[in-house]
Amino acid sequence: MAHAQLTSTPGNPLRGRVRAPGDKSISHRSLILGAMASGVTEVEGLLEGDDVLRTAAAMRAFGAVVEQLGQGAWRIEGRGGFVEPEDVVDCGNAGTGVRLIMGAAAGFDLAATFTGDSSLRKRPMGRVLEPLSQMGATFMGRGGGRLPLTLRGGRLSGISYTLPMASAQVKSAVLLAGLNAVAAVEVREPEPTRDHTERMLRAFGVEVLVTDEPGVRVIRIAPGQKLTGTRIRVPGDPSSAAFPIVAALITPGSEVTVEGVLLNPLRAGLFETLREMGADLTIENLRDEGGEPVGDVTARHSAMRGVDVPAERAPSMIDEYPILAVAAAFAEGRTIMRGVGEMRVKESDRIALMAAGLTACGVAVEEEPETLTVVGASRANHPVRGGASVITHGDHRIAMSHLVLGLASVQPVSVDEPGMIATSFPTFVSMMAGLGAGIAEA
Ligand code: S3P
Repeated sequence: MAHAQLTSTPGNPLRGRVRAPGDKSISHRSLILGAMASGVTEVEGLLEGDDVLRTAAAMRAFGAVVEQLGQGAWRIEGRGGFVEPEDVVDCGNAGTGVRLIMGAAAGFDLAATFTGDSSLRKRPMGRVLEPLSQMGATFMGRGGGRLPLTLRGGRLSGISYTLPMASAQVKSAVLLAGLNAVAAVEVREPEPTRDHTERMLRAFGVEVLVTDEPGVRVIRIAPGQKLTGTRIRVPGDPSSAAFPIVAALITPGSEVTVEGVLLNPLRAGLFETLREMGADLTIENLRDEGGEPVGDVTARHSAMRGVDVPAERAPSMIDEYPILAVAAAFAEGRTIMRGVGEMRVKESDRIALMAAGLTACGVAVEEEPETLTVVGASRANHPVRGGASVITHGDHRIAMSHLVLGLASVQPVSVDEPGMIATSFPTFVSMMAGLGAGIAEA
């Protein structure tokens, strides 16, 4: 499987209704908070992707009982604290998993060694080690704060920490560590990032104080609060829904509805941007599911134009720039994505890989340290050629983005390491095929 390729072939319109897989961010958090809590947490709609299954295994290693009851239905029995794992905790490809678990574990009197796959071992962990060390945790690891590394936790002090980069993972690591600190913790965010940890902590009975001061959002948790097991319904992942939605927008004759998509404003930057580009997107059935806004999103093939995406929007769509770059390739004119430097420290350097993949598919791209520009062309005047075999460096979103491109380009597009798609969207190929897309093993 590691060396197989997937190929997408243009020609078929996409039609139908699908349900987005469970949100990855919320799935990780439901397992971690469930394991930290006292009592039983029941989760519905959990994403059963490889990243989240690693977090489930890690929570067992830290002492929780974690069981699958049925498809997407999970039961977690927490001990109200973590115990020391007997072996190395391998978080696979999951940056969210390892960073949040390190934060949670730092609050307990234990030692734990963390590792991950070759991609995760290259990613910066210093961003969480820094605040957790300030709180009193100690770490021993490879140069540059890389995995594998060993944490010694317990007896943490409080902290007021200003995020040096817009990262919900760093914010969450500090908040989760702070649950077991002796004094209050405060995270100060100059740019608001996804707030699933704050929302879910409330569902577990923790009081989280959020105040907007000029130019900074402040999140504060008082010490001595306990988590109590709860029920969680995981909404559909907008980062995954983005793939069938953009596929429909760029493929003539298409109309696709994705049901149950999380529309938290701190995650919805892609939809706002696509609308500015002229995308025909409609949202129906807007509702509240477990404290998060959710709706059914319908996308129809649209003539789009390039736009200038402001840097302030980056945190609300950081994982969606690869698929936005594909939409931009089919739009008329230039799409400038500013302030996207964080893309370089995801599962791969996503600016470099999107630039390389799009260039190989005949799309003009300009790459700068913090900006990615795609020079689109309307389909009629200047179709996207495709016809490339794209190197993904094992990055699921790079793979899915280029497969979507190949549905509307002139020639088919192949990607390597397709097995990695299962980290976030294990049903991607079958769901896309069900909508009529020509995606198959080469
Ligand atoms: C996530 C936060 C983002 C995002 C990641 C999931 C989370 O990472 O890219 O896929 O669940 O908190 P950063 O915190 O590094 O921006």
